[in-house]
Amino acid sequence: MSNSFENILVNENYEGNSGITLITLNRPKVLNALNTQTLKEITTALCTTKSHVIILTGNDKAFAAGADIRQMLEAKPSDQINDEREKLWKEFNNFPYPIIAAVNGFCLGGGHELAMACDIIISGDNAKFGQPEINIGTTPGAGGTQRFTRTIGKSRASYYAMTGEMFTAVEAKDWGLVTKVVPYRTTIRESLEAAKKMAIKSPMALRLIKEGIQASFNTTLDEGLKLERRNFYLTFSLEDQKEGMNAFLEKRAPNYQGQ
Ligand code: CAA
Repeated sequence: MSNSFENILVNENYEGNSGITLITLNRPKVLNALNTQTLKEITTALCTTKSHVIILTGNDKAFAAGADIRQMLEAKPSDQINDEREKLWKEFNNFPYPIIAAVNGFCLGGGHELAMACDIIISGDNAKFGQPEINIGTTPGAGGTQRFTRTIGKSRASYYAMTGEMFTAVEAKDWGLVTKVVPYRTTIRESLEAAKKMAIKSPMALRLIKEGIQASFNTTLDEGLKLERRNFYLTFSLEDQKEGMNAFLEKRAPNYQGQ
C-alpha cells in the first residue's frame, strides 16, 4: 500500500491481483467530502498507477458526500475559476482504463458526479444517491446536470436535482445508473470480481472500448460509429488481437501483453 497521500489510500496489485488498484477515499470525519487536495491525490494516483483496472471506493457510511462545503463556503467566482478542480476532473475523465466505483452509503453531489465519471458503478444496498446542491443554494458543477440527465432522463434528473431528494441503490439500478446492487458488506468483493474479469483482458482493447463508450456521450451516432469502426480496425494491428483469436482457436486461455 502506498502511504504517500493524506486523503486517499492506494493499494496497487490489490489482494495480489496484478493490474488492479484499489483507491479508497479516506476522509471519514467529513464523509469523504471532496476537497481539491483529494481530487489531486486521486488524479496523481491514476497518473502513476501501472494498473489497467481501478476500483474507487469510500467506506460503509459514505462513498463521498459531495464537494467540501467548508472549502467552498467563502469562495468567490474567481477562486472557483482559478481553482484547479476543472483540470483535475478532466484528468480523471481522461484516464484511459476502466474505473469501477464501489459505492456504499452517501454518494451525493460531487461524490455522485465522481461515481458517474467512473465507467461502472457497483452499489451496496445501503447507498443513497443524489444531487443535493439545491439544498445549499447552488447547482451541480461536475456532471450532475449532464451525465445524470443523459443517463436517467430529463424528467427524473430534473426532479432529483431540483428537489435535492435522495434515491436508493435499487432505483439507481432500475434507471441504468448502477450496474449491480449487492449487500453492502460485499461491495468491494463484488467489484474485485468484476475487476478481475477485466484485468485478464487486453488492456488496449479495454482502452478502445472505453474511448468508444465515452464518445457516445459526446458525438453524433454517425461519428460514434465511425470511431468505433476505426478502433475495431486498429485492434488488428495489435498482438493482443492475434493472441485472443489464436487462443480461442487453440482452446486455451489468452495471455495478453497489452501490445
Ligand atoms: N462537505 C464538508 N463537510 C461535510 C460534507 C460536505 N459535503 N458532508 C458532510 N460533512 C461533514 C459534516 O459537516 C459533519 O462534520 P462535523 O462532524 O464536523 O459536524 C460530518 O461530515 C458528518 O456529517 P453529518 O453530521 O451531517 O452526518 P449525517 O449522517 O447527519 O448526514 C448527510 C449525512 C445527509 C450526507 C449530510 O452530511 C449532508 O447533507 N451533507 C452535505 C451533502 C451535500 O450537500 N453535498 C453537496 C455538496 S456541493 C457539491 O458537491 C458541488 C458540486 O457538484 C461540485
